[in-house]
Parts: sequence; structure tokens; C-alpha cells
Amino acid sequence: MTGPRVVLVGPMGAGKTTVAGLLGDAWGLPVRDTDADIEARTGRSVSDIFVEDGEDHFRALEREAVAEALATHPGVLALGGGAVLAEETRARLAGHEVVFLRVGLTDAVKRVGLGVGRPLLLGNVRSRVKVLLDERTPVYESVATLVVDTDGRSPDEVAAEILEAL
Ligand code: S3P
Repeated sequence: MTGPRVVLVGPMGAGKTTVAGLLGDAWGLPVRDTDADIEARTGRSVSDIFVEDGEDHFRALEREAVAEALATHPGVLALGGGAVLAEETRARLAGHEVVFLRVGLTDAVKRVGLGVGRPLLLGNVRSRVKVLLDERTPVYESVATLVVDTDGRSPDEVAAEILEAL
């Protein structure tokens, strides 16, 4: 089964990386993930780059990684959750099949996994995730050609809906 080239966008906890793997398996296409590309290229973790060099530096690396992947990668591509905040990246996505994996606050917080057993931390993670979801949902919607709900659904169910639609 050969499928179209697809770009997955959405917040942390939407399941982009997992669903990308399932789509790649189903379609027999290679899968890439811009966070993993940045880590491979720099030999450092995303967290280390954020902490040591700052978010602006990470975003510059991310813009380059997205541009490179869109230009060369023939398969399924998962973008980091903040990648679409760059106007340059949104412009590059035009004409591509872009799937927004939508996730609500409760499932996103559950999936990012922080704060388990730490109610105070959980409270902070929850408010931070809420701010990001509120800010970014309209941006994801503006670039998407398909929107798939992920709340309460397994990656297999999400991938099945995409496989059905595309
Ligand atoms: C980020 C999402 C992360 C990673 C970085 C910043 C964001 O990717 O790029 O920590 O701004 O939402 P995932 O969405 O794959 O977790």
C-alpha cells in the first residue's frame, strides 16, 4: 500500500511520532521527525539545546530541519509541536498534505507524562499546556488539510482514520 506524503502537526502529546510510525509502516514509507533530525545533526538533546542555547537558537535549527526534510524526505514527516509558529515554515507547508492531530488538555497532559504523582507539578504542567493549546490551535488549523481528533483514542485508531481519509 503506497500512500501520499504526509506532514503531521499538533501539540506535544498529540501522538505525532507514534502515529507517523504507524502510517509509515502501513504505507511502506520512511518516517522522519524534526526533533530527532536536530538531535542527530547536533549530537545534543532538544532539552539541552533549549537550556544551554535558548529557545531562539532551537527554533533556528528547527526551521532549517523542517526546510531540509520538506525538500528531501519522501515519506511521513512529524514536526515538533512549535514548528508551525514560524511564518517561514507555514509558508513551506502550503501545497503539502498536512494532518493536524488535535488533542484536548486532559489527554495532552496525560500523554506528556510529567507530573504523575506530583500534584503541584501537574498543576503547572496543566496550565502551561493550556496556554500552548489555546495559542497554537488556530495556527495548526490554518495549515491543516485534515484534522483528526486524538482524545481518548489510541494511535492505531488515529492512524486508521488517516489511512481511511487519504
Ligand atoms: C515543542 C515540542 C517538542 C520539541 C520542543 C518544543 C513545542 O516536540 O520540538 O520541546 O514548542 O511544542 P514534540 O511536539 O514532538 O514533543
